[in-house]
Amino acid sequence: MNLILDVDTGYDDALAIMLATRTPNVNVLGITCVAGNHYLDQIVVNTLKILDVADAPSDIPVAAGCLTPLMEVVRLPDRLHGGDGMADLGLSPSPRSAVPIHAVELLRRLLSEASQPVTLVALAPMTNIAVFLRMYPHLRHKIERIVIMGGAHLTFGNTSPTAEFNIRCDPDAAHIVLSSGLPITLYPLDPFRQVAIERAEAAAMTQSASWQRQIVGRICTSVMNVFGRDFTFIGDAGAVAVAIDPSRATIERFPVTVELGSSPATRGMTVIDRRNAYQRASLTEWWHTSPHEIDVVTEVDGAYYKALFLGKI
Ligand code: BDR
Ligand code: CA
Repeated sequence: MNLILDVDTGYDDALAIMLATRTPNVNVLGITCVAGNHYLDQIVVNTLKILDVADAPSDIPVAAGCLTPLMEVVRLPDRLHGGDGMADLGLSPSPRSAVPIHAVELLRRLLSEASQPVTLVALAPMTNIAVFLRMYPHLRHKIERIVIMGGAHLTFGNTSPTAEFNIRCDPDAAHIVLSSGLPITLYPLDPFRQVAIERAEAAAMTQSASWQRQIVGRICTSVMNVFGRDFTFIGDAGAVAVAIDPSRATIERFPVTVELGSSPATRGMTVIDRRNAYQRASLTEWWHTSPHEIDVVTEVDGAYYKALFLGKI
């Protein structure tokens, strides 16, 4: 399986990068970075460091992408996971460096050169991907599927009562991607909140002989301390897990619209149309359902995906 990851590393992007790069049958073609959990330069630094932790091949290209969302300003999450956004692990500077091209150009190159289908895994505000789709629409057929961590289905938001962080940071980019007509799997906050690691498990990992497991244990413990609870979610790593193995995920198809209005109460909300065909076809002067449906992960087997994750790091 060929993956490209678009990230804003981020504690859970870090877990996702470790999972993707340490899964034997997964070929990570490249990683593109975007502002989100932190400013872009810190995201790149974190990404390079976590590739070292993962002992990932040194030739995986990493590129810095968009500094800001399309229309919004950069707003960092309230509770940064450490000053660096990745639990302040005290990791040494990476000997790796980012490639000297923009992330959108890296996407163009990787997809132009790909002879096999490529799955794009979007774990961050979708600015890079929206710009790519606008700049190089002739390459979209090279994307087999986009798996997106974003949105909220039947649960509440984490950035406003209605909106999830990745979509709220750049709703306009999310709209471009979700309405693109490409095959999309949305991994919203509902399954995101179903794959958890307990404090005792994280504490045990910090004592492991494996450096990777020590780091995962330290990251998870740090996040639990930030949020004042005894568990944490593997977050973005769950989206990678489902991209690799969707066998224990419940996936339903719905039209999904991103709310682009300016009301802070609803901007960036993912409006998922669960109505039946009759309801969708009636009262169309009130609401025109998009003809394009996407796959929404509505539920996952949390124990299965936790074991999948822990079995690879
Ligand atoms: C998403 O927002 C980011 O903070 C996380 O990395 C994840 O991608 C969750 O809403
Ligand atoms: Ca992320």
